[in-house]
Amino acid sequence: MDNKPFDSINGDFRGKDIISLDQFAQKDIKILFSHVPKMREIALKAMPSKIIAGKIVVILFYEPSSRTFGSFSTAIKQIGGQTVEILNPQQFSSVVKGETFEDTIRVFEAYSDAIIIRHPETGSAQKAADIARFVPIINAGDGIGEHPTQALADLYSIKEKFKTLHNLHVVFFGELAHYRSVNSLAKLLAMFEGIRMSFISPAKVGLNPNIRQYLQNKKVKIRELHNLDEVIEDTDVLYVSRVKKEFMSEALYKKIQGKYFVDKNVLSKMKAKSIIMHPLPRVGEILPEVDNDPRAIYLRSQIRNGTYVRMALIALVLGGKI
Ligand code: NCD
Repeated sequence: MDNKPFDSINGDFRGKDIISLDQFAQKDIKILFSHVPKMREIALKAMPSKIIAGKIVVILFYEPSSRTFGSFSTAIKQIGGQTVEILNPQQFSSVVKGETFEDTIRVFEAYSDAIIIRHPETGSAQKAADIARFVPIINAGDGIGEHPTQALADLYSIKEKFKTLHNLHVVFFGELAHYRSVNSLAKLLAMFEGIRMSFISPAKVGLNPNIRQYLQNKKVKIRELHNLDEVIEDTDVLYVSRVKKEFMSEALYKKIQGKYFVDKNVLSKMKAKSIIMHPLPRVGEILPEVDNDPRAIYLRSQIRNGTYVRMALIALVLGGKI
């Protein structure tokens, strides 16, 4: 299979695959975000919307998911589309009978106007895009690669809180080596001037080397450390991650799980104007005692914005009249 280069958005989302943040420039993000308030209104006021009426979107998830799956499904329905939802095709579809990935994609594109895919293999969304001839593919997380819609939504949440993206200090905290949301958000933030990024992680699970190289090429100021105390007082965004057990040995998991967490003590050192984010699910890395602090947005606006941003993205990709 030939490796198509990523198709740049370049101001026009219609029919394009959404695979990586490499496809986006600042102007594309501006266009996307300009539609989000309208999407929020549609959702909050339960306004009947026909933006993508008549369109069917397949949500094909080879990996477990609650938020991303629920958020895409909600987003499509909010703007008048319908979904065909295939969770765990390894167990519940013809994949069990030995059907190839190629055939599965070709079959579902025959039913739909777009396919949203999550898969444990890095590069699988691009593979699906290479196979699909007629419909756009949207990457909802490919292995330890990227998670572009999570990053776009997270960026929106950051912008909503700080009103600007320039000159912020974003601190990624936890297991980073296998974290696609971190990879995508770091790439996205690299587009904005003066952003500083710090990556705080246990040894052996630091920043993905490809992302480090990417950031260095873009001359982004980054620090890689093991101790949150070194940066916490100067943090604007604390982006916390889960230890991705499914991508590592049992021995490594046991070594790092439970060592890095956010509690009231961490909160007490943070600036009044700062935020704590997590793409969820969390497994002990943010203690419940933090949840009611106004700076904790992971169970509040971060989730809701995920749906609004996905609504806007799908509307643009499917060429709906907004
Ligand atoms: C993340 C994912 O699946 O990449 N969650 C999400 O999509 N919101 C994070 C995780 O699995 O820990």
